Parts: sequence; structure tokens; C-alpha cells
Amino acid sequence: MSTAAKYIYGIGGVAREIADIFSRMNDNIAGFVIDAEYIADSPAKIMNIPVISFDDYAEISRHTQTSITVSLGEPVYRKMLSEKLTSRNLIEGTIILGDYLASDSSVGAGTILHAGSVVSSKCSVGKSCLINKRVILGHDSTIGNYSVLSPNVTVGGHVSIGNNCFVGLGACIRDRVKIGYDVIVGMGAVVTRDIEDEVVVYGNPARIIRRNEMHKVFR
Ligand SMILES: CC(C)(COP(=O)(O)OP(=O)(O)OC[C@H]1O[C@@H](n2cnc3c(N)ncnc32)[C@H](O)[C@@H]1OP(=O)(O)O)[C@@H](O)C(=O)NCCC(=O)NCCS
Repeated sequence: MSTAAKYIYGIGGVAREIADIFSRMNDNIAGFVIDAEYIADSPAKIMNIPVISFDDYAEISRHTQTSITVSLGEPVYRKMLSEKLTSRNLIEGTIILGDYLASDSSVGAGTILHAGSVVSSKCSVGKSCLINKRVILGHDSTIGNYSVLSPNVTVGGHVSIGNNCFVGLGACIRDRVKIGYDVIVGMGAVVTRDIEDEVVVYGNPARIIRRNEMHKVFR
């Protein structure tokens, strides 16, 4: 196990869930990190864990071994913050809480495999992804960088999902389907055909609803 002090970037629901799970394992999160402009509006502590500014985190990291994991659920922000960490040579921490990660699968730096998730044989999950609670990823599947799979998403075998994608609550992706980059799959969608880049789809069967021009899921 790494001895680096673990920090979480963000103070939302995923951040709190991860901190709680770690505290139950007696492997505490050292702090929540937010950007300096939000510090004034944030509590000093959440769950008795200090909330510090990104600048303070960067300073701590100059003389202490640390890792930080981005907890946000919007792919565009995951990418932005991950690139910021890389540009400053800060180490992104990978968090594996899932039920099963096959030994022949790989997970990129900064990715969270949340509680109850399953990553089957010969899968590749990119960097800084959020694979949420009870996601099932079928064998031989590939998830691109910064992509977010919401709770209870089910992905069949040999599926490919590109970079910066968001898959909503409980969506099902048929085996061998290829989904491009910057795609939003709405909650409950049943994806039976390949999906082109930069679109929003939902429904059963999933259909293209519009272009993903805003690159934002949550308004
Ligand atoms: C697909 C999605 C991004 C579309 O968001 P949006 O563009 O803001 O859409 P709106 O909420 O304005 O809804 C527009 C219409 O689409 C319908 N709609 C929205 N999402 C839908 C979905 N997933 N399936 C079927 N219909 C949907 C709405 O009912 C509405 O229909 P109406 O015009 O007849 O009233 C969003 O609905 C969604 O599914 N987000 C993911 C939520 C989620 O999984 N959160 C996870 C939290 S961890």
C-alpha cells in the first residue's frame, strides 16, 4: 500500500463517499482540496477532514509524499483538473474500491473504481475515469480517459467508450457497441448501435437527441 497522504479534489457526494469508506478502513483521507476562489464559501472541515485550497495542497506536496484523486462527476472538469495536476507534476491517486478488478485488466492513474463496481477480464479503463457504484464492465471492454459511468450502468463485452463520455444512471450498452468521444448517454438508455462522436443519446433503443455542443451534463 502507498504511504503517500491521500487527498480528494472536490467536496461533493463522491468525495464524501470515498472519505467515509477510507475512514472505515482506518486509512484516512488527509484532506479535501478545492480551488482558492471557493475556500471562503466552504466549511473549514467536512467529516472532520480539513478542506484546503489547491495552492496549499501544492505547497504541502513540495515537502510531503501525497496523491490526489479528482472526485468530480463531469468529464469536462475531470479532464481540466487532471491536466492541471499533470502540468504541475502532482501525482493522481487511483482509488480501487470495487468488488472485482480482473488481474488482466488495467486502470489508468487517477481513476476511481467505486464500491460494488466490477471490471471483468481484459478491460482497459483510461486515466481519471469515474466508474461509479455497482457499474458492471463486461470483458474485453475499453473506457477512454476522463469518462464517467454512473451508478448501475451495465456494459456488455467488447464495448468501446471513448474519451470524455458520460453514461447516465442505469444505462445498458449492448456487447460490441462502439461509442465515440464526448458522448452523453442519458439515464436509462439502452444502447444497441454504435454512437458517433459528440452527441447526446437517450431512450430505448437509444437515439441521437442533439449534438453535445456544451460538453456539460449537469446544468
Ligand atoms: C440526457 C440528459 C443529459 C438530457 O438532459 P437535458 O438536455 O437537460 O434534458 P431535459 O431534462 O431538458 O429534458 C428534455 C426532454 O427529454 C426527456 N429526457 C431527458 N432525459 C431523458 C432520458 N434519459 N430518457 C428519456 N427521456 C429523457 C425529458 O423528459 C424531456 O422531455 P419533454 O420535453 O417531453 O418534457 C439527462 O436527462 C440525463 O439523462 N442526465 C443524466 C442523469 C444522471 O445519470 N445522473 C447521474 C448522477 S450520479
